[in-house]
Amino acid sequence: MKYKSQKVAYWFFAFSMLLLVLQLVYGFIMGFARIGMDGLHEFIPFNTARAVHTNLLVVWLLSGFMGAAYYIIPEEAQRELVGVKWAYVQLISLAAVGVAAVVGYHFNWWEGRKFLEIPRQLDYLVVANVLLFLGLILATLYKGKRKTTTAMVLTMGLVFAALLYIPGMLPFDSQVTDSFFRWWVVHLWVEGVWELIMGGILAFLLIKLTGVDREVIEKWLYVIVGLTFLSGILGTGHHYYYIGVNKIWLVVGGIFSALEPLAFLAMALFAVNMYRKGEKKHPNKIALFWTIGSAIVSFVGAGLLGFAHTLPQTNLYTHGTLVTAMHAHLAFWGAYAMIVLAIISYSLPNMTGRKLYDSSVGRAAFWLSNIGMVGMTVAFGVAGVAQVYLERKYKMDFMEVQNEVSIHFVVLILCATMFATGIVMYIWDFYKHGKPTDEALDLESDL
Ligand code: HEM
Ligand code: HEM
Ligand SMILES: [Fe+2]
Repeated sequence: MKYKSQKVAYWFFAFSMLLLVLQLVYGFIMGFARIGMDGLHEFIPFNTARAVHTNLLVVWLLSGFMGAAYYIIPEEAQRELVGVKWAYVQLISLAAVGVAAVVGYHFNWWEGRKFLEIPRQLDYLVVANVLLFLGLILATLYKGKRKTTTAMVLTMGLVFAALLYIPGMLPFDSQVTDSFFRWWVVHLWVEGVWELIMGGILAFLLIKLTGVDREVIEKWLYVIVGLTFLSGILGTGHHYYYIGVNKIWLVVGGIFSALEPLAFLAMALFAVNMYRKGEKKHPNKIALFWTIGSAIVSFVGAGLLGFAHTLPQTNLYTHGTLVTAMHAHLAFWGAYAMIVLAIISYSLPNMTGRKLYDSSVGRAAFWLSNIGMVGMTVAFGVAGVAQVYLERKYKMDFMEVQNEVSIHFVVLILCATMFATGIVMYIWDFYKHGKPTDEALDLESDL
């Protein structure tokens, strides 16, 4: 059963795709700056480009999650979305905050707190926006016919993500305290509540795409939620090793963060097992690629590459180097970018009525972007390990080291070009589907 109000999701997804393109532009600006081609330096210095690159990432992922919720919740709750007009108002206000922040960054209106650069004045707009979003989702769920585990886990993730934004808004005089609470947002988002959002979307997609019983799929969700909380909450300690807080965190952070890959492993096993068990009858193979791909790549990027620098003995050397950027790219890509691209690939044909799945463009988009991203990860990794040895072990000067590793950024740019080609093809496919129609959403079929 489909609902007409689900088409709100389309516009959130379209906004997401626009920001994704912009994010990549700023990625290239940094990549070229790293090899000495820094012609835009006067207006877009590296630090500005970096803040814009990462903030656009966060906003397009959030817009993707919101779109996913607007699509999934009506279908799970079995009723139209409450206050559809307000959902469009919410999208417009999200775009307004995003534009104000990105433009502001170019005029040095930002805070020097990695990932939380948005000026605190704008934070109030973010809060209003998110409250409106949550109000619509919760009201729909409350008035709906059923409250499924999938919908509850997704909604819980979104509500907790909103709550965890608050510690990042509090002003502190101490750099240590500020840093301590900044991680409640940054870490507890990506290694905590966003995993619930991912788990919820993953469960929804697996139910639809594999045909395995909801009961079986939702049992796995409990395991994933359990493992996430068990490891992720105290795992925050892996950011507290050397920031000036109590040394107990060396032990707590080391042990619990080392357990974090288990939640990602469970997600990968979950997806692969459900695929094996399933009937494999659903025609949307591209959506299946992105869904299973997300579960597997997130295990590699977040689980394995996260583990690679999470013990205090290693982190002492790797902290804040390009090793971090290596892990950050594959983790964000696998877990959150790919799951957003998965729900888009699944829902787009249902909303527009155009069944373009299984096209060669769609497949090429998947492989080019994934192989390109793996290449980028390797380039960052090689540069990062070289940086660790030269700078941290042999005490070479920071800038001299950056010069030594610049050759790896040539490789990065080549791989990023392949990656970006894949993304452009994905967006071309998105565009080709055309706009959502009421007729398409009127069909009873679930395909
Ligand atoms: C999808 C999940 C994940 C994402 C998106 C992600 C992303 C990131 C990002 C963006 C950073 C840099 C943060 C900053 O400096 O402000 C980071 C740092 C870090 N991540 Fe992850 N991560 C994920 C999961 C994990 C897991 C499961 C582990 C451990 C097993 C881990 C271990 C670390 C460590 C130790 C750092 C600190 C690096 C440093 O000291 O510079 N991450 N991660
Ligand atoms: C055209 C493709 C891309 C290029 C050329 C690129 C390049 C870069 C560069 C040069 C940095 C700065 C690293 C440094 O501090 O020296 C960076 C940071 C970052 N990028 Fe990208 N990027 C691209 C795409 C992406 C994508 C698709 C994602 C997410 C899925 C992403 C996530 C990040 C994150 C999270 C950081 C901050 C890492 C940290 O905190 O250490 N990037 N990127
Ligand atoms: Fe973390």
